[in-house]
Amino acid sequence: MSGADVLTIGDRPSPDGHAEDILLSLTERLHRTSTRFLGYPANLDFDHTACGPLLPVLINNAGDPCGGDPAGLHAKPFENATIAWFTRLAEGDPADTYGYVTSGGSEGLLFGLSLGRHRLPNAPVYASDQAHYGVRKAAGLLRMELVVVPSDADGAMDPDALRMACEERGAHDARAGRSPSGAVIVATVGTTMTGAFDDVAALRRAARAAGDTHVHSDAALGGLLAAFAPVELPWNLRHGADSVSVSGHKFIGCPVPCGIVVTPRHLLPPLAADEYLGSSDHTLDCSRSGLAAVLLWKRLHELGTEGLRSQARRCRDTAAHAVGALARVGANPRHVPHSITVTFDRPPTEVCNRWHLAAQNHRAHLLTMPHVTPETIDIMCADLAHHRGPPPSHPLSAPTEM
Ligand SMILES: Cc1ncc(COP(=O)(O)O)c(C=O)c1O
Repeated sequence: MSGADVLTIGDRPSPDGHAEDILLSLTERLHRTSTRFLGYPANLDFDHTACGPLLPVLINNAGDPCGGDPAGLHAKPFENATIAWFTRLAEGDPADTYGYVTSGGSEGLLFGLSLGRHRLPNAPVYASDQAHYGVRKAAGLLRMELVVVPSDADGAMDPDALRMACEERGAHDARAGRSPSGAVIVATVGTTMTGAFDDVAALRRAARAAGDTHVHSDAALGGLLAAFAPVELPWNLRHGADSVSVSGHKFIGCPVPCGIVVTPRHLLPPLAADEYLGSSDHTLDCSRSGLAAVLLWKRLHELGTEGLRSQARRCRDTAAHAVGALARVGANPRHVPHSITVTFDRPPTEVCNRWHLAAQNHRAHLLTMPHVTPETIDIMCADLAHHRGPPPSHPLSAPTEM
């Protein structure tokens, strides 16, 4: 039987232990993959085995985390503690910041754009040519026009190009005898391919000509890096963002995809509490994963802010190591300061496949996420050199099985 046949759900219950055996082989495959997982922004350095006893119960955080829940099977206090921590990190006003645990960075982005749409119904979305594809998807769902703004050589949105696009739109509105339509801006804090940081404050200034603005900081991976960078990188609510989203399974580390979104409470549309739900609900869902909120809380509680800061430092050090190692094998690395993304010449397909590298056109990238060590980078570089032939001045050993 093929793998797909084994998974077929039949009319009758499967024999005892059959599903468990299948899950065991899935677990083995996932563990094998994780030893060579270099190209995607997920942190695999966590152990939530202790949360196993939570699996036999339903944890449903329906509605706003700050709202009530007559059903009782929720973990909203854990979600609120997580949001309170992130509000401090994103420098929001604790008395006026709303947030919730999302299903991932994409839901946070959709939430941010929907707020922008609510506040400025005629404004287009401005995002850079390096923004995540989810921006196009969210703009399409919300039926918002998307204006793509060029980025600089590193991959960050060019504020001058945004200024020109907004001025053009302002002039167009004026010619049509309309008041300015405003601008909803997506600042990508940590672009997907190069890790570049858009400057939230500079983009807000650049968009003045458009009239009122809503700036969403799509900080899926890079928010946690910007927060702990050795220099100030403008990414958060104090820097001028109106909403900020991050992924939970990226830098923080979580076995289920999740994320966090926050915004000042006064920007939320007014909503009455629903009697059936026992809560108001500004989220994009109704039922939400309380398990994700608990897992996220556990990881943050164990690490603390200082633990995350040293995790970020270690990842940056590994990125510097990767730049040196890739240069020595002639792979032409590039690295945006303070990011943990290193791009380099696209290796042969079998190397990309073996190390799960993400590639686009003639370049590939790796991310020095917390589970990636300098030793792993060295083994990958040896594999690369073996497939291209090492430069004569730096002979490297043959690839080693991990
Ligand atoms: C900049 C950016 N925004 C949004 C996302 C989507 O996040 P998620 O996969 O958590 O939905 C990603 C994912 O890589 C990203 O890089």
